[in-house]
Amino acid sequence: MAQLDKAKMIVDKDFRIAEIDERIYGSFIEHLGRAVYGGIYEPGHPSANEHGFRMDVIELVKQLNVPIVRYPGGNMVSAYNWEDGVGPKEERPRRLELAWRTIETNDVGTNEFAQWAKEANSEVMMAVNLGTRGIDAARNLLEYCNHPEGTYYSDLRIKHGYREPHKIKTWCLGNEMDGPWQIGHKTADEYGRLAAETAKAMRLVDPSIELVSCGSSSIGMPTFPEWEAKTLDHTYDYVDFVSLHQYYGNQDNDSANYLAKTMDMDHFIKTVISTCDYIQAKKRSKKKIHLSFDEWNVWYHSKDHDAKLDPWTIAPPQLEDHYNFEDALLVGSMLITLLKHADRVKMACMAQLVNVIAPIMAEQGGSWKQTIFYPYMHASAFGRGVSLQPVVSSPLHDTKDYTDVPYLDSAVVYNEEKEEVTIFALNRHLSESVPLTADVRSFADYRLIEHIVLENDDLKAVNSLNEEKVKPHGNGSAELKDGIIEAQLSKASWNVIRLAK
Ligand code: AHR
Repeated sequence: MAQLDKAKMIVDKDFRIAEIDERIYGSFIEHLGRAVYGGIYEPGHPSANEHGFRMDVIELVKQLNVPIVRYPGGNMVSAYNWEDGVGPKEERPRRLELAWRTIETNDVGTNEFAQWAKEANSEVMMAVNLGTRGIDAARNLLEYCNHPEGTYYSDLRIKHGYREPHKIKTWCLGNEMDGPWQIGHKTADEYGRLAAETAKAMRLVDPSIELVSCGSSSIGMPTFPEWEAKTLDHTYDYVDFVSLHQYYGNQDNDSANYLAKTMDMDHFIKTVISTCDYIQAKKRSKKKIHLSFDEWNVWYHSKDHDAKLDPWTIAPPQLEDHYNFEDALLVGSMLITLLKHADRVKMACMAQLVNVIAPIMAEQGGSWKQTIFYPYMHASAFGRGVSLQPVVSSPLHDTKDYTDVPYLDSAVVYNEEKEEVTIFALNRHLSESVPLTADVRSFADYRLIEHIVLENDDLKAVNSLNEEKVKPHGNGSAELKDGIIEAQLSKASWNVIRLAK
């Protein structure tokens, strides 16, 4: 095979996309499987603290530095009575949880989760039930969480032991209401009307909140993007964000095609932006709607297993995808895609955080890092500041579903405060390294401090509690001379090239 053409990149501090909202490194905990029970919460476990929270898990969450965590669902929220999860634990009802067909004990609810988020250094992104419920339950929950005192629900919170309001700023108006599987699924007009009226009432309770209108539950939905256009027609003046959800999988075992799936994610984001801007134009509005990509990840490994689970058990092992090396590469590419759209994507949640399609796994014997933990950790640690627009040229290839896919997928972040620049670069080529030349002369006094690489000869390699086969090393080949970086990006690799003053 002929030597691959070089990939080239020009990085300039003046080519700015936007300041990155750190909330793009958010995540998600749903009352689903072992995310809550046996995940973040396991009283009696040797690592549990006085609240029953597993400190080994919190330690890993802190390594990811997760600024915001969506809660309590997901599909679960569409039939959830938030009142079941507050007050004395012995009085909380056990319920049939209909979305995932399990038993919900309600041992953990709003207050416990707010407490957990505090201990994990995260904010809460709260979702309200617009499936089986509506305006009243939403405004009462908001009063319970955010009103200081002196009203029925704020005083109830105080009676429940939480003197200080939780001050939850970000609220999702339901979950995936476009999906026929959703309990209380609605047409776009039904949802749009309900969401707009709920938003109005919630803003009267607390005008400082931010609201997210439900977008499509994937780009593949037959109602996409008409759903966004119709619902935003109702909600545009009352909300700040529209949500996007997307999961990918390598069901066909076609790795080249799999790693190109972020072409689809990019197209999804662009189409949602166009739809928001179309409604803005239609309304002659000055306001821009931002995007909350509040569910994204790889999800497919566990589906056959889950289809065989018996219903009505407590915290069964649902959605426990065991991620391999190629999944980590795709996750890296998904993070790059979010960074490329930092001007409009202001929040995003890797779904989910612990045990359920998660970077962190918790077992009796301890907690451990899945392969996807690493790109997430790198992006969260080094991807804060300004997203720059590099001028990139890369050799291209075609895959089953995509044409002109660049082998090099990249994003660049400039942290002005720390005086650091980070190049995130994925080599999609499965068998060849890609030579990269990056012109960084705009950062005259900077030096190269490290080139981290996540690579593995086996695309299907996985981690476990006892063995970490997929982990990064710092021996990348990048060299900086006279403002030019030369690096060999090894076949199928995730690269983090860092410069500092
Ligand atoms: O994250 C798992 C599920 O995926 C969520 O409950 C739902 O919103 C989506 O379909």
